[in-house]
Amino acid sequence: MYSNQILNKIALALDFSTKEEVVKLLEELNPKPKILKIGLQLISSLGIKEAVVLLKQLCPSASIFLDLKLYDIPNTISKAIENFKNLEIDYLTVHILGGHKMLKQALKASENKVNLVGVSILTSYSEEEFSNSFFHPANELKTITLKLCELAVSAGLNWIVASPQESVFIKERFKDLKIITPGIRLTESNIGDQQRIDTPRSAIEKGSDMLVIGRPIYSAKNPNEIWEKVLSLY
Ligand code: C5P
Repeated sequence: MYSNQILNKIALALDFSTKEEVVKLLEELNPKPKILKIGLQLISSLGIKEAVVLLKQLCPSASIFLDLKLYDIPNTISKAIENFKNLEIDYLTVHILGGHKMLKQALKASENKVNLVGVSILTSYSEEEFSNSFFHPANELKTITLKLCELAVSAGLNWIVASPQESVFIKERFKDLKIITPGIRLTESNIGDQQRIDTPRSAIEKGSDMLVIGRPIYSAKNPNEIWEKVLSLY
């Protein structure tokens, strides 16, 4: 048993390089996912248009989440978004680090035809690695995440990507901001390159509005079994 509430909150990451792999996974899953996320891997092989057409054929009622994590100067980003908005895409990611001007111009160029999603700090960073990399240790991940959320909100974005571990303090400060959380794992094993992880149930309880799940499902021996398990967890 599952509720539509959880089904509508899960974006399935289709991190594949071939059409055949996408078709195979989507044919196996029942019920069909409501949000399909594609990114650099699939579009660098198929091209964006072909990938979007394929998904629309396979799951006509699903929303399409194009995860390109755009990061460039305002002019370049807004021109690209003018092109993307003609595709049937529902969500598109941009890095919040691109800055206020870039986010504002991106939003204007989108004409509300696509939900712009601001990416904060990649979930593949551990807190320690983040602080010790290019930022001063005093700039801990939490502080920078909140600053990025503030920037996104002030530019008019309604959606951001963060780790499930940050949802609680983001919602405390920005209660209307919608949070998308990758880094979802059913167990501590096979976390892969993700560091700031959580389980589906806990991520939702902490306030996540959409969960992104990829490898726990598509790398499983029986993907539909894990898919059903995820859906029944809430
Ligand atoms: O396989 P896994 O469940 O780790 O997939 C996570 C997906 O979410 C990948 O497609 C990855 O590109 C994406 N993502 C992420 N961290 C972000 C933004 C997107 O892992 N901050």
